Amino acid sequence: MLQTTSTERRAAGGDRPRSDASVKMRPTETAMTRDQAWNLLNEYTKSESLLKHALAVEAAMRHYAAHLGENVEAWGITGLIHDFDYERWPNPPDHTREGAIVLRERGVEEEIVGAILSHADWNQGEYPRDRPIRKALFAVDELCGFVTAVAYVRPEKLTGMTASSVKKKMKQKSFAAAVKREDIEKGAELLGLPLDEHIDHVIAAMQTVSSELGFG
Ligand SMILES: [Fe+2]
Repeated sequence: MLQTTSTERRAAGGDRPRSDASVKMRPTETAMTRDQAWNLLNEYTKSESLLKHALAVEAAMRHYAAHLGENVEAWGITGLIHDFDYERWPNPPDHTREGAIVLRERGVEEEIVGAILSHADWNQGEYPRDRPIRKALFAVDELCGFVTAVAYVRPEKLTGMTASSVKKKMKQKSFAAAVKREDIEKGAELLGLPLDEHIDHVIAAMQTVSSELGFG
């Protein structure tokens, strides 16, 4: 059993009634530990920037899980490994689907596997973004990439970054052109948050792992 602190147990909402979706997975327990998730990620991923992306998305998922009273460990692991199969299977529909086969072989819970599948557009039929963990993963994925790009061009990196400076960069079409602005906006809508607030959450989450992301 995974050990968690009492703060995390409280953050995971351990004492309150669970919804149907979360009853299947006890709030303080995941079959895969964070160490196992990190090892799996490193087994499949060599790119430094992809590893950093995984750490950023992990931080954002942990942040939102705590904020929403969900399972912090499970959400964090979901973020950490959501793209673990990308280097080996970068193309749709293999990306996420090949990874899901590996995850199921290793006994990872369906709640996590389903969330990872749901972040790809091509799995929407079977794995729609219809529950908090799925909405959050989709919402933070592109935004983490964009906030990283903004941090690279700021001398202070993540320190003191504001939602308005991120939004200003979003309006510059040539800046980080590969990041889909509409997905960032769709993500905030899915979470039911104003875009500014969503960006603030993700900046705050990423600031907690600033040094791991290479921003000092
Ligand atoms: Fe991603």
